[in-house]
Amino acid sequence: MEYALDRFEQQVRAAIAATGQVPDGLIEVTAPKPNIPADLAFPTFKAAKQLGMNPPQLAGALAQAIHPAADSLVASVVAAGPFLNFALDPVRLSAAVLEEVEELGPRYGSDDQGAGKTVVIDYSSPNVAKLMHVGHIRSTIIGQALYNIFRFLGYNVVGDNHLGDWGKQFGMNIAAIVRWGKPAGDGEDALAQIDKLYAQYARMAKEDPALDDEARAWSLKLEQGDPTARELWQWMVDLTLTANQHNYDRLGVHIDHNYGESFYEPMLPGVIQEALDKKVAYRDEGGAVVVDLGNSLPTFLLQRSDSGTLYHTRDVATLLFRLNEFHPSQILYVVGMPQELHFRQLFALVRAMGYAEDVELEHIKFGTIFDQHGQPLSTRRGNMIYLADLLNDAHQRARAVVEQASPDLPAAEKDAVAEIVGVGSVMYNDLYQDPRRNITLDWDRMLALEGNSAPYIQYMYARCRSILRKAAAEDIELPAAALNAQLPALLTHPAEVALLKQLARLPGAVREAGARYAPFVVADWCYETARALSGFYRDCSVLKAETPALRAARLRLVAATAQALLNGLGLLGLRAPERM
Ligand code: ARG
Repeated sequence: MEYALDRFEQQVRAAIAATGQVPDGLIEVTAPKPNIPADLAFPTFKAAKQLGMNPPQLAGALAQAIHPAADSLVASVVAAGPFLNFALDPVRLSAAVLEEVEELGPRYGSDDQGAGKTVVIDYSSPNVAKLMHVGHIRSTIIGQALYNIFRFLGYNVVGDNHLGDWGKQFGMNIAAIVRWGKPAGDGEDALAQIDKLYAQYARMAKEDPALDDEARAWSLKLEQGDPTARELWQWMVDLTLTANQHNYDRLGVHIDHNYGESFYEPMLPGVIQEALDKKVAYRDEGGAVVVDLGNSLPTFLLQRSDSGTLYHTRDVATLLFRLNEFHPSQILYVVGMPQELHFRQLFALVRAMGYAEDVELEHIKFGTIFDQHGQPLSTRRGNMIYLADLLNDAHQRARAVVEQASPDLPAAEKDAVAEIVGVGSVMYNDLYQDPRRNITLDWDRMLALEGNSAPYIQYMYARCRSILRKAAAEDIELPAAALNAQLPALLTHPAEVALLKQLARLPGAVREAGARYAPFVVADWCYETARALSGFYRDCSVLKAETPALRAARLRLVAATAQALLNGLGLLGLRAPERM
């Protein structure tokens, strides 16, 4: 799709090319430094060198030769030393941007670059019969944001929750439940109970080998399809899915598939055999199947000597299944940093087997979460935070913020806003920076109404909505359609122009976020937009603008900003309150 800034760039390139002085391959445009009063620059170094000129000379000659067309988005061309600087025409830009936002509405910023292509995203992927830990929380939030971004870019996106629902540990879970009974309830509490029973069983089994045998026997029975084992296992799977669903709903997470590791069990013998046949793995004296790719990667197992399979084995089967089922151009694994080696091994093995040659396989790694005291969250340390508790805590704290910001809202609305802001603050904290960095649960910063936080951006959105509501209530006659077309020409205050330029950047931010697997590019855009908006509110009055026409023009700008912000926040999975 083509947006105003795309056309601007095309016009700049075409203008340079039309001079006939620079061969096409040497035309490179970049964003000028922030203190330069221009919107695109052509650094002429390379071209000048090839042409045997000095760069300022070339820039000067080009500036002389370029005369933008009357309807061009290019307002001026100036040589500044070796640079050729192009400035946007603010009036044509504002007409184009307002028109685009108004026409596309919730689709403003979207693209069709992904048309015909499929991306599989492996995210959330918690383990059955366990509470989601921080790794799963981050995976869920980052994965859903990537999902939204790729969809917006026009890709067919397949989200797969690769549930950890298979493995030896379920034998012990079942043995413990058979011994002590099923915990009651169906929420995270019940999951926590199962986890406790498991830990207790594991402790006792250390002293008593009979218990260990019993667990192993259940594990075998589960594999062989014993009805009791299967039923208890299914009960744990369902319980986990139900408990997690409540969190997913609060986080706006929609998962397409929950195949889970167990789904691939029937494919594993074939995978192991194929790896052996292709000589990327061998069977050692003990009977284990070892992968040795002969490169710098450590060897790993596809089958243990007791014939059991592993996480790796299931991931190979999963990858082959996805290639075959979805024909993706990319598969993204949103999984914590500690599994880096696992994925390097997985990708290398699958490629050595001759698959996925033109498929991009990407491990989107993320760092850990630290508590307020700078300690990593962990069950062992005892500072582990369950997702539901985290969201409840966020809600409570946000409630206090709402109380302070808008004491007059009805109680029910305060609650609704607290949920939007509280959950939003947790998600935003996960998304505003490079995922590889660690995050800290610093509530003061996360919930600050000033600074790079969800509440700040959400508050700026609510301010737009409140102005638009007031304007509607005052019911000042809207300008005639003819006048409406002239309104953009009135938006020439630097704060207005800055805001319009910021709105024009959303499509580019979405593309960059997709290309770099970086939701933070969209988060940055939201924050910068909120800042541009606050500059605009500071300098320009909307409802009390000097003339009705200016007021109408500014209202259009406010409405467009609200729409664009809503789109940006929506890509991150955040909601925005109407009042705050
Ligand atoms: N369940 C795994 C864990 O908790 C994460 C799975 C990630 N996805 C994958 N295809 N391995 O560590």
